[in-house]
Amino acid sequence: MSDTVKKRIVLGITGGIAAYKAAELARLMMKRGMDVQVVMTDSATRFVAPLTFQALTGKPVFTGLWDDRIDNGMAHVEFTRGAAAVVVAPASADFLAKLAQGRADDLLSTLCLARDCPLMVAPAMNRQMWDNPATKRNVAQLKRDGVAVFGPASGEQACGEEGFGRMVEPEELLADVEGYFQPKLLAGRKVLITAGPTFEAIDAVRGITNRSSGKMGYAVARAALDAGAEVTLISGPTCLAPPAAAKLVKAVSAQDMLTAVNDLVGETDIFIGVAAVADYYVLNPSEQKIKKDAHILTLELAPNPDILANVVNLPNPPFCVGFAAESESLFEFAEIKRHRKKLPLLAGNLVEAIDSDESELTLFDDEGAHPLPRGPKIQHARSLIAHIAKLYGRRPAAGE
Ligand code: C5P
Repeated sequence: MSDTVKKRIVLGITGGIAAYKAAELARLMMKRGMDVQVVMTDSATRFVAPLTFQALTGKPVFTGLWDDRIDNGMAHVEFTRGAAAVVVAPASADFLAKLAQGRADDLLSTLCLARDCPLMVAPAMNRQMWDNPATKRNVAQLKRDGVAVFGPASGEQACGEEGFGRMVEPEELLADVEGYFQPKLLAGRKVLITAGPTFEAIDAVRGITNRSSGKMGYAVARAALDAGAEVTLISGPTCLAPPAAAKLVKAVSAQDMLTAVNDLVGETDIFIGVAAVADYYVLNPSEQKIKKDAHILTLELAPNPDILANVVNLPNPPFCVGFAAESESLFEFAEIKRHRKKLPLLAGNLVEAIDSDESELTLFDDEGAHPLPRGPKIQHARSLIAHIAKLYGRRPAAGE
């Protein structure tokens, strides 16, 4: 993984039902090689036993200011020395209020005040508590104070209500924490990304599509967000959870995707076409399910518009990046495609990586081929974003 993996993280847990999800977060952080020190408030220990976190992190959990297990008796200072960040997940409404006021009446709030590293919070509470003007005020104050606020997400809540207030899921939170440390190479840039397959209807239930999990496109969206960009993700049908900070636009067919791209591309600095767009659509799809019989069924297929080519050929196009999945001769076919599509940059891989979390990606630009070492898609997405930032910075100004 990236250089963030050896970071020492103080994981603060406050009292809320989402504390159970913090166990998974601690596990994921450990898996990433982070050094995790858990500190809990008293109310957090009502939801999950400290022993759970001790077992997951291999370290004793601390809850009180007056703990004599720390030699100098100053746990609030010791824990944040050399720490990369304090991450409070879940952060209750009460704890956010405390942080906003700079109060320090327990170990966790005291170490938050005494720290000299970034503070990140993942709020979790009932939706009405989140919507309360007092909470809004506290969160706005925390943001002004430079605290990173991740979430909350929207959805079904433990209280049975529906709305904003759920803690962001642990995997997404880990990505938020890692993303925080990424260089902001695309700060202020607007990035539009297509991802996933498209689905072209044959009838009410059947269709033709391409093999594409959407994982690469979603990883590119995540990496662009982490680089400070404003990201819109136009996604074909996938089972993936999009990064919460991206604007998501759903598309089904290539025509839907083209319409969405045309609506949004005017605002865009960088367009990255990762979607595996179906090359054909079915002429005259049936509204009703076609009855099965023993006869041969003939479908009439017409070519879909090439979304990327449409964008490249706009009078004032954004910086365009394409993807190519090939089943053979990657270097040769990718270069041919890059020239045919008039792209400054194209990322190519072999189709074997489609469903996997890992890939073997090569970047093709005017200087040649740049193979990236085999690795997780998020790592390749970050390398791609760094490469885009470099080329985007060098592009000729309009009119040159
Ligand atoms: O020609 P091919 O489909 O291999 O090109 C792949 C690149 O073109 C990808 O970036 C893909 O998102 C884009 N594309 C597109 N619209 C199509 C076909 C491909 O945007 N109809």
